This record gives sequence, structure tokens and C-alpha cells, in this order.
Amino acid sequence: MPQSLIFRLFLLITALLLSSCGEVEDTRPGQPVKQRQMAFKEIVKAFEPMGVMLRKDRYDADKFLPLAEKLVEKRDAPWSHFAPDTHYPPSKATADVWQQPEAFTKDKQAFITATDALLAAAQSKDKAQVAMAYDKVHEACKTCHKQFKER
Ligand code: HEC
Repeated sequence: MPQSLIFRLFLLITALLLSSCGEVEDTRPGQPVKQRQMAFKEIVKAFEPMGVMLRKDRYDADKFLPLAEKLVEKRDAPWSHFAPDTHYPPSKATADVWQQPEAFTKDKQAFITATDALLAAAQSKDKAQVAMAYDKVHEACKTCHKQFKER
């Protein structure tokens, strides 16, 4: 076999291996799927440390408040990236996002209201209120994911 053919075969096999185990790239202009997934990751960056604090009984009002503020700041980012016709790999959204837009909007509103309440609780610095408000936000994430996100 000529050297160049061996090399080309090697490239082909490498490419196949990479594509079979790698993540699917969002190749569309503007990368709407990637944009919204990154926006959710930003939400998690604010939300997760609050949960850790509460679960480990390490509530610190002065550290919690900036996280609640960050969550409110980041909560609006994903939604504009759910444009029509943006349900394609690597999206983990379900078709219901586009087929039941009212229900999706309702869950989004509930989430936004819950984050407002969490910020108010964080400002009050009352641990019991904070814990309750945190649980409500968590419920709002889960409620929406149940119908609108694949697992
Ligand atoms: C109104 C619906 C809704 C709410 C509320 C919501 N999500 Fe999601 N979330 C989605 C959908 C839909 C996707 C899938 C997006 C995609 O892949 O196209 C998603 C994806 C994600 C992902 C995966 C991102 C990735 O890289 O694949 C994470 C993490 C996430 N959400 C966390 C949260 C957390 C934490 C909350 C609450 C603080 C939350 N979400 C609230 C609908 C919601």
C-alpha cells in the first residue's frame, strides 16, 4: 500500500473515532443550541453553590446574597435562544418546547417568580425563608425539565 494511502486511512479512522465518542457540535449560524446550553450552565453556577451551602448547613447570608443576585441576573438569558426551528442535535430539549409554547412560558414565568422570591428571602437574611425559597426555585427547574428536557 502506498504511504499516502496509509496516512489517509489513518486520518479517516481517527476522525471516525473522534466523532463516535465526541460531543455533537452545534454548527448552525449563531449556535442557538450551544448559546442556550451555556446560558443554563451560567444559571447553575449561581444556583449550585447556594444548594451546597444549605445542604451542608453552611448558610452565610453575606455569601448567599450575591449568588441570589447573580441568579436573577442570569435567569433571562436562555429563553431568546429557543427560536422556532432550533430543535436539532445536540439539543436535549423535547419537542414540547415548540408544540406547547404556552406551557413552556408558564413554567418559565414560575421560575422567574421563584427567583424573585429567592432574592427577597436572601435580602431578608432569614435562613428558614431562604431555604424555603431555594426549594421553590429547585422545584421550578424540575417541573420544567420534566416536560421540556430529555433525560
Ligand atoms: C422553563 C423551562 C426551564 C426552566 C425553568 C429551567 N430549565 Fe434547564 N433546561 C431547559 C431546557 C428546555 C433545556 C435543554 C436545552 C437544550 O439542550 O436545547 C435545559 C437544559 C439545562 C441544562 C443542560 C445544559 C447543557 O449543557 O446541556 C442544565 C444544567 C439546566 N437546564 C439547569 C437548570 C437549572 C439549575 C434550572 C433552575 C435553576 C433550570 N435549568 C431551569 C428548560 C428549563
